[in-house]
Amino acid sequence: MRARVFPDYEAMSEAAAALVVLRLREKPSTVFMLPTGTTPLGMYRRLVEMYRAGQVSFAGATFFNLDEYLGLVPDHPASYHVYMKEHFYGLIDADPARTFVPDGSAPDPAAECERYEAAMREAGGIEVCVLGIGRNGHIGFNEPGASFLSRTRVVRLSESTRNVNAADFEENRAPQRALTVGMATIFESREVLLLASGTNKARTVAASVEGEISESVPASMLKGHPNAELFLDEDAASDLGSGVAG
Ligand code: F6R
Repeated sequence: MRARVFPDYEAMSEAAAALVVLRLREKPSTVFMLPTGTTPLGMYRRLVEMYRAGQVSFAGATFFNLDEYLGLVPDHPASYHVYMKEHFYGLIDADPARTFVPDGSAPDPAAECERYEAAMREAGGIEVCVLGIGRNGHIGFNEPGASFLSRTRVVRLSESTRNVNAADFEENRAPQRALTVGMATIFESREVLLLASGTNKARTVAASVEGEISESVPASMLKGHPNAELFLDEDAASDLGSGVAG
C-alpha cells in the first residue's frame, strides 16, 4: 500500500479528483465505489467544477455508495442519499439507473444488502473504490473487529462513530445501525484509494500503514491489497515514520 502525502487538503482533493477523471478517460464505463463524510467533499467539489467546465462526463459510469444509516428514508436530510445528491450525483450527469446507494428504509434490510451485493456483482465488481477512514480505522461502516470476509450487511455502529456523526441528527442521536458494503467486497475492488485529512486521523493512519494487518484496524486490510493507495495531507501523515514517500 503506497502512501502519497500532499501539502494540504486542497492538494489531496485535487489529486483524488484527477485520478477519478483519469480512470474515466481511460474507461468511461468505470464502476466506482464512493464514500460520504467530510473528507471527500473537496474531491466532489473539484469533480463538479471539472464537469461544469466541460472537462469530464460521468454519464457512462456506474456508482455505488459504501453505506447508509439503517432506518433513514432516502430523503432524510442526514441520509447519504441526500448527501450524494447535494454534493455529487445531483450536480453532474450521472445516470440515475446506474447510481446506487443502499436503501436504509428497506422493509427487509438483510434482503436489501443481498440485493446490493448482487447489483455490484452484476456490474462486474468495483473497479475504483474511494474510501475515507474513521478515527478508529473503520472503512465504510466496518468497525474494528469486522471480519475481512464480510459482505454487505447490517452493522452496529460504535459509540465513537455515533458521537462523531451525532451533529447531523436531531437531539444529537445518530442511528445505532447501518448498512455497509463488507470488507471482502471492498478488498475485491481492482483499485482502492483511501483519503485521509487532518490530525485527528494521524494515529489511525499510522496504525493502518505501519502496524500489523489486523481486523482490529479495518484499514490495515489494505496493506495486503495489490493496488491500494493512500492520499494524505500532511496533518494526516504526521504520525508516520520517515519511510513514506512524498
Ligand atoms: C462514509 C464512510 C466512512 C467515512 C469515515 C470518515 O461513507 O464510509 O467510513 O469515510 O467515517 O468520515 P469523515 O470523512 O467525515 O472523517
